[in-house]
Amino acid sequence: MANHQLTALHSPERRELILRAAVRDGLLDPENAQLAGFLDLDAVAATVDSLHRAFPGSVEVLHAFAAKANSLVPVLARLRGLGMGCEVASPGEFAQALAAGFEPAQIVFDSPAKTRRELAQALELGVAVNVDSWQELARIDELLTTRPTLQARPTRSRIGVRVNPQTGAGVIGAMSTATATSKFGIAPADDGNTERLVEAFRDRPWLTWLHCHVGSQGCPLDLMAQGVAATVALARKINSELGRRQVVGLDIGGGLPVNFADDRATSGYQEYVERLRAHAPDLFSGEFQLVTEFGRSVLAKNGFTAAYVEYTKTSGGRAIAITFAGVQVATRTVFAPDSWPIRVTAHDATGAAKHGEPVEQDVAGPACFAGDLVAEARPLPMLEPGDLVALLDTGAYYTSTPFSYNSLLEPAVHGATVAADGTVRFATLRRAQTVADLLGRTGG
Ligand SMILES: Cc1ncc(COP(=O)(O)O)c(C=O)c1O
Repeated sequence: MANHQLTALHSPERRELILRAAVRDGLLDPENAQLAGFLDLDAVAATVDSLHRAFPGSVEVLHAFAAKANSLVPVLARLRGLGMGCEVASPGEFAQALAAGFEPAQIVFDSPAKTRRELAQALELGVAVNVDSWQELARIDELLTTRPTLQARPTRSRIGVRVNPQTGAGVIGAMSTATATSKFGIAPADDGNTERLVEAFRDRPWLTWLHCHVGSQGCPLDLMAQGVAATVALARKINSELGRRQVVGLDIGGGLPVNFADDRATSGYQEYVERLRAHAPDLFSGEFQLVTEFGRSVLAKNGFTAAYVEYTKTSGGRAIAITFAGVQVATRTVFAPDSWPIRVTAHDATGAAKHGEPVEQDVAGPACFAGDLVAEARPLPMLEPGDLVALLDTGAYYTSTPFSYNSLLEPAVHGATVAADGTVRFATLRRAQTVADLLGRTGG
């Protein structure tokens, strides 16, 4: 058995170790568990540690994990245990963060569609709120002045405004949130908005933070850092126009892109902090408290999805393997394969890596539409029924975020830890959905 100490995180050997143990333990089974997600919890701890170490100790920073990247409550609870906070953007994520044990002060509430009730709950609990629009700001004014609970006990929430620095798009349009016309935040450069923001802060001493999130996968580090720099400059402008230090904190969002091409965990947090220092040195002056909202970069490379091959065929000369992993767990990859290509590896029924001459094959999912493919013309050792495939780098936004097409059941997600002697231990992060669950959910 491979020695764990020689088995680097994010390595084929380590994934194989986990996969073989999962088959041995029956977590993958051709009849009963044809599909499952795995999260390497040791690798998650190492990633979070690298995040903490990348930011200078002299600055007060809360790293709030973006729950949308993986909202399973046991995952959130583990991240809390590793010293992270939690960024939520819906009532469901809000409830999941509370269920995971986060203190209200560790939670940040972002959403462009916060209802009165959700805002009131956040303000009453003391959860940080980033206001997305002028209308939302008016709603908060109304709640703070008319809601008896908030009159009796002033909110402890850190309240900020999300700004759109309009620094432009990255390579994936749907992931770019700082375009000239983005749906998120208030754009200071739009006609009169900077002056209006200064006045909004002047009139509301409780408005003390600014927030930006330039975008996610596909945004270069310099583009992200430019957006942060514009936000720092705005904070300084507001403070200097008001003649007081009212903006005390900056939430710089998440968005660190993940390398889906190979096993290297690039870009690292350290590299991003260097770009931030270059573009926005005042960020680390000690003048501002910081919040970050990383999601994908915390988990993507620390997880994979495994599925059995049920059938293989050729059609018009095209080799196709029909597996149990498709659009229900790899939604973005299936619908936008050019933007979201993922790596696939081939394994035999024991989980051991398959060797053999690479042959171009399509790796298809089980859904009933022709485009349900996780990889096209991918050179892999020839797949056969009973083999396993692993979809790599799927720890965030994949198996944890299922799509219920064809009423395909949500698979289990397991956490894995590897002891020094190579022993793999599993913990359930989400049990597999059953047909009874599905019928209950769909009125059956
Ligand atoms: C406001 C906000 N913060 C953080 C994130 C997390 O981004 P990522 O997972 O790319 O780090 C997102 C992603 O959509 C977001 O919209």
